[in-house]
Amino acid sequence: MPAEALVDPAGESWLVEDMLRVEDVMVRAAGGSRHTLVSEASLYLLKAGGKRLRPALVMISSRSGQAGRRESDLAAAALELVHLATLYHDDVIDGTATRRGVATTHSRWDTDIAVLAGDYLFACGSSLGATAAGEVPLILANAISEVCEGQIVETTAVGDPGRSIDEYIGVISMKSAALFRTACELGAATSGATGEDRGQLVTYGESLGLAFQIVDDLLDLVGDEAATGKIPGTDLRAGVFTAPVLLACQRDPKLKDKLSEGTGDLDEILPTLWSTGAIADGFAMAVSYADRGRKALEALAPAGYRDVLATIMDGVLAQVDVTQDAAGRNVKLVP
Ligand code: IPE
Ligand code: IPE
Ligand code: MG
Ligand code: MG
Repeated sequence: MPAEALVDPAGESWLVEDMLRVEDVMVRAAGGSRHTLVSEASLYLLKAGGKRLRPALVMISSRSGQAGRRESDLAAAALELVHLATLYHDDVIDGTATRRGVATTHSRWDTDIAVLAGDYLFACGSSLGATAAGEVPLILANAISEVCEGQIVETTAVGDPGRSIDEYIGVISMKSAALFRTACELGAATSGATGEDRGQLVTYGESLGLAFQIVDDLLDLVGDEAATGKIPGTDLRAGVFTAPVLLACQRDPKLKDKLSEGTGDLDEILPTLWSTGAIADGFAMAVSYADRGRKALEALAPAGYRDVLATIMDGVLAQVDVTQDAAGRNVKLVP
């Protein structure tokens, strides 16, 4: 499935209208500098594409309360700008050449511009959050610090094929799930949803974020650049060993030795990832988080917005098409 289809509003005209308003707020905020280079660099990835998953989650979750408040639009735009900022910085850290199907910002300009434009986008997002007022600035600031914590903690495990799965989950909960959880919380907070609904939405957001990152990590191993807009093998080259690689290392000490020495490229290790069942079991981890998220949705009263959230969860898993063999063991993922 093309990346952009993940948040296909599937005939929900309210979501199409919501997202158009949010887009307008984002472009005005990120493109507001009178200095051409600043606006150009800040709008660069925004215009290149992206699924807009996080702002969509804010708007969909805002249907749990009083939808249509300006605060929800501002919070949604703020969160996507914060996400965008993390991408500018993440691409510098990972040293990757492609994002959203185009050259990364540091490849298009240079590292200084990418870092500073990322900082600028954090500030633009924070400013929008402050305009939304209420709980938004604090929720947003906590999310930003959590993503940074996650990215920093991840650097301590670079090159370590022996890190535990628990440690991996702890990192992805901070660096990725935090923004999904925050998206749902912002939707609930800005629409005045009940505390109970807000709690379920936060659980859904966290579970979605974990499933999303595990699938993203699988796509980095078995995905297709045309669909993801990113070059496969980036995590491995950066020494970031993700769930399937860690599982395979637990099962095959020779692979662990190879990766400890800093040798081994994607094509070389892929057969081991398959033969040890690590790809299949990595995907199973995503499925189990998705199940947890679906349960949280079931605790909400039936509503159109709840169905859209369920569809997004399905869409995240469907980015990899899974077929099992007769023994139900060797799962084939068809990107
Ligand atoms: C990329 O997020 C960063 C991760 C958490 C893997 P997305 O896959 O949502 O990126 P865009 O916004 O669609 O480009
Ligand atoms: C990074 O995770 C999450 C961020 C905080 C941006 P990844 O490094 O897996 O994200 P991609 O694959 O580059 O989008
Ligand atoms: Mg990255
Ligand atoms: Mg990735």
